[in-house]
Amino acid sequence: MKIIVTGSAGFIGSALGLRLLDRGDSVIGIDNHNEYYDTAIKKARVARQKKYSNYTHYRIDLSDQKSLNEVFKNHKPQRVVNLAAQAGDVPDTYADSKNLKKQFGYKPSTSVLKGVAKFVECYKHYYNLK
Ligand SMILES: NC(=O)c1ccc[n+]([C@@H]2O[C@H](COP(=O)([O-])OP(=O)(O)OC[C@H]3O[C@@H](n4cnc5c(N)ncnc54)[C@H](O)[C@@H]3O)[C@@H](O)[C@H]2O)c1
Repeated sequence: MKIIVTGSAGFIGSALGLRLLDRGDSVIGIDNHNEYYDTAIKKARVARQKKYSNYTHYRIDLSDQKSLNEVFKNHKPQRVVNLAAQAGDVPDTYADSKNLKKQFGYKPSTSVLKGVAKFVECYKHYYNLK
């Protein structure tokens, strides 16, 4: 499956990316590498994912609509996991998916509660936790 993971240089996005790559999915990572914390950590996380031939990385900002459109058009992802986030005051909201709905038919089908529950199950399974 082709999956876009935003925030792919982040803590959770990179861990998810590695898990998906291990399972054989194609991962298209998007991250702006912002300087909210040490960017060396982000570079190292991206480098680990880049070792997989099925990983493609884009250093772009989610507010860059033009670049984002190109990524979607070029890769035609089957799933999008949006983990890009910025703590504190931000100029734009990343929850506005109107354009994605209009242009690509993006239609989230899992509630946050269900998504978190699935993530916890996946985490427990991966680490053999009860
Ligand atoms: N870490 C946790 O314990 C935890 C717990 C619950 C929920 N979450 C949620 O999971 C998500 C990811 O958290 P994390 O811990 O991986 O954070 P993180 O800061 O490590 O990762 C977020 C990534 O998003 C990128 N980013 C931010 N704004 C961007 C933009 N405009 N365009 C492109 N990339 C952008 C950052 O560069 C960063 O690499 C967040 O929504 C967070 O609230 C995290």
